[in-house]
Amino acid sequence: MAVIAGNWKMHHGPAAAVGFLSDFEIGSLPSAHELIVFPPTASLHAVASSDRRDARLQVGVQNIYWEAAGAFTGETSAPMAADAGASFALVGHSERRHVFGETDEDTRRKVEAAVRANLVPVLCVGETLDERRAGRVEQVILRQLDAALGGLRAAKRFLVAYEPVWAIGTGETATLADAASAHGSLRGRLAEAMGVASSATVPILYGGSVKPANAAELMSAADVDGVLVGGASLDPASFREIVDAAG
Ligand code: PGA
Repeated sequence: MAVIAGNWKMHHGPAAAVGFLSDFEIGSLPSAHELIVFPPTASLHAVASSDRRDARLQVGVQNIYWEAAGAFTGETSAPMAADAGASFALVGHSERRHVFGETDEDTRRKVEAAVRANLVPVLCVGETLDERRAGRVEQVILRQLDAALGGLRAAKRFLVAYEPVWAIGTGETATLADAASAHGSLRGRLAEAMGVASSATVPILYGGSVKPANAAELMSAADVDGVLVGGASLDPASFREIVDAAG
């Protein structure tokens, strides 16, 4: 069973998000895979509470703040996201790290906050093009994983997403060998931290310009347990094709 997750980023307000659910027609999708969408916070409740949503389509929040409540204008806490219907929380997405300056320490706090609120954290890691050219892929992604590992290990369940920054929204995708190598490093570190058997149960998703045409191939790479899809998850037909590609 694969995990197919759609990250809508800052697209699909409440009306468009519910429109997506109608067109996605999950009821007619004979899929045993785990499906998740991450709508923008403004649309979270509309998606989670919509009668157009089948329980097989789970809902997550794209970002949380680590405090539960308080004077933090513009932020969303983990308990509030859970209350609005989220079951998952993306943490450390590359746009959070590189556009909004989130640090490894921030991701650690956010993972811990997600776990306290019973949200399943989805920790995103990935290297920039400069880091890849400097031969530092493994060093960077393991540093990002290590920073959050304490919090992740306290979770009943968590996911990791490998998303090379240079592949996000660019049309560039990692080769199968690139993906298998990065995923293998992440799996190895999880095995050291929690044992081989437990590490094998952690889904490690690939993200970065996943589309219907490359999804099946990427999901065939070693240690790739699913995909985190940005642009190609916005259109219900293309998201369905990616679900179909998982077999
Ligand atoms: P993309 O985004 O599929 O548009 O490259 C992936 C992501 O940022 O999760």
